Amino acid sequence: WPAYAPLVHAINKLKVEKNAVVLAHNYMTPDIFALVGDYVGDSLGLAIEATKTDADIIIQGGVHFMAETSKILCPEKRVYIPSMRAGCSLASSITGADIQLIKQRYPGIPVVTYVNTSADVKAESDICCTSSNAVAIVEHIAAEWGVDKVIMLPDEFLAKNVARQTDVEIIAWHGRCEVHARFSAQDVRDMRAANPGVVVLAHPECPPEVVEESDFTGSTKAMSDYVGDHSPGKVILLTECSMSDNVAMANPTVDFVRPCNLCPHMKRITLENLYECLRDGTNEVLVPEPMREKAYDAVMRMINVKF
Ligand code: 13P
Ligand code: SF4
Repeated sequence: WPAYAPLVHAINKLKVEKNAVVLAHNYMTPDIFALVGDYVGDSLGLAIEATKTDADIIIQGGVHFMAETSKILCPEKRVYIPSMRAGCSLASSITGADIQLIKQRYPGIPVVTYVNTSADVKAESDICCTSSNAVAIVEHIAAEWGVDKVIMLPDEFLAKNVARQTDVEIIAWHGRCEVHARFSAQDVRDMRAANPGVVVLAHPECPPEVVEESDFTGSTKAMSDYVGDHSPGKVILLTECSMSDNVAMANPTVDFVRPCNLCPHMKRITLENLYECLRDGTNEVLVPEPMREKAYDAVMRMINVKF
């Protein structure tokens, strides 16, 4: 009876009693990801699952902006996060007031906002995007508005990586993911030298020169799918550490090369505080109604784009 087993059992029991689901991001530790997550995936996948579930309660296994996105999409449900301290360097790089100033500076240019932002930022935006649909969303909104440029916030590196894949001009902000910004092109070259034949997958929040040195770039789900579909002998995932742990569980024949970088915000979510949150109903995530309605429009515009 391993130490975590009673907690897992208690969480799964409470989920049934309270009609609750756990939406777990790919960066959750394997105990949460594999043993208590009802839905696991990337930011887009979790947002779509939030719209589909008929549970009364959502426990967000992820960071605060993800819980806000669930609440924005499901105002009738109670949404909780196991730690209110689970933030994000991208979300804290920009405010709704910043967006208002940017819109004054570039009138008539649509604002595409990465979902890694607070509800007030989403509320000031024309459409959201995630790492899995960013290029398509940029092209969609530019065509819809009949313009050749868009504002894309707040991740500078995601914006630059998208700009390389489209003719639409991108006006970027200066936010960075503190996890992915730490990878360098030299890291990739060193890892390749030490691991001949290794396949390098990079998240698009990495600097463009890292993406350029890599074999594939995509969202956490796209990276996971790539490993499942191609079964490379040896792979490096240039992203948060729990990704390799979680993808490795499903791919026993693949060797995973580290290093990786830890996200301190994601790691604030533990089996223990997830249990307490579900048991006690603490850390409910709320979004004021007028703001929620505006943010809902931006998120739903993204979900409704068909590729
Ligand atoms: P995705 O899972 O959407 O690729 O997002 C990665 C990330 O950094 C979330 O915080
Ligand atoms: Fe934010 Fe980066 Fe952590 Fe994702 S990995 S929550 S983008 S700091």
